[in-house]
Amino acid sequence: MPNGAWAVPLQYLTGAGEKAAPVVALTWGVLVISVIVMMVIAGLLAGAIWHRPGQNWTVGDRGPVLSHEGGLNWLWIGVGISTLALLFSVVWTVKVLAQIERPPAQPAVTIEVTAKQWWWQVRYLSDDVSRRFTTANEIHIPAGVPVRLKLIGGDVIHSFWVPQLAGKMDAIPGQTNETWLQAAAPGTYYGQCTEYCGVQHSKMALLVVAQSPADFRKWWAHQLAPPPAPQGLALAGQGDFISHCGACHAVRGTQAAGALGPDLSHLMERSTIASGVLPSDGPTLAHWIADPQSLKPGSLMPVPALSEYELANVHAYLKTLG
Ligand code: CUA
Repeated sequence: MPNGAWAVPLQYLTGAGEKAAPVVALTWGVLVISVIVMMVIAGLLAGAIWHRPGQNWTVGDRGPVLSHEGGLNWLWIGVGISTLALLFSVVWTVKVLAQIERPPAQPAVTIEVTAKQWWWQVRYLSDDVSRRFTTANEIHIPAGVPVRLKLIGGDVIHSFWVPQLAGKMDAIPGQTNETWLQAAAPGTYYGQCTEYCGVQHSKMALLVVAQSPADFRKWWAHQLAPPPAPQGLALAGQGDFISHCGACHAVRGTQAAGALGPDLSHLMERSTIASGVLPSDGPTLAHWIADPQSLKPGSLMPVPALSEYELANVHAYLKTLG
């Protein structure tokens, strides 16, 4: 984790980039102002309760309501202090909003993120069509530079949130929302859909993997390369995959070119599957292919009509997609 052990996933009390820094400072600032205002109010209230000029009576007695000279002044003092504190908070907030609206420099990369049931489609854009590619759920970015995100709603509204890097932004069908983020240093930053969107809302995680610009360029080049040619079981699995899964999933360089489900080219480079719900290694991948509905109910992936033998082949094939 970028900021030590206490920076648990979704930590928003610390930031890890140029866009998050002013927001984190504002968060703490407004929190401190609010705590001070609350303590002053609590102190005055306690004083008003226990201060009984010229009276000698105990709690429970019904004392007469007295009007003191100058009592109204306290109202003006209270209104004045509240107005100043609120005005200061508003000015600070507006200043931060203006500061983070645009990236400090031209973004190095533009990535299109599309909300899907129940995953995130991630397309890397480039003026050169041959350098474009699509992946899912894990967003690689170069560290230290701003990255532009175009958020689109596919068949659902998700709210994109990677708290260590940037604030929330909705992905709404029929509309393109633009935002940007920047990671100060290489590392993995956790994100999550942050608005209730349906049955799989809580299992809509995503990862942002920030790499040094050189590593990021290498990663991009690797994404464009076709996966290694499968052999043995995996070769049989490739055939089964193309005929049973290829209408929904794509693997670059093969006849599998479906666009309904996640693009699975270089699947094994991702540390998770199913929107961060399951690790991509170990037995969960085989379990997922055999019965996705038990792991992620409401997922649009049907239980595939594959024999046990074919399932093992497809699993072997997917394991080669590094
Ligand atoms: Cu998507 Cu909540």
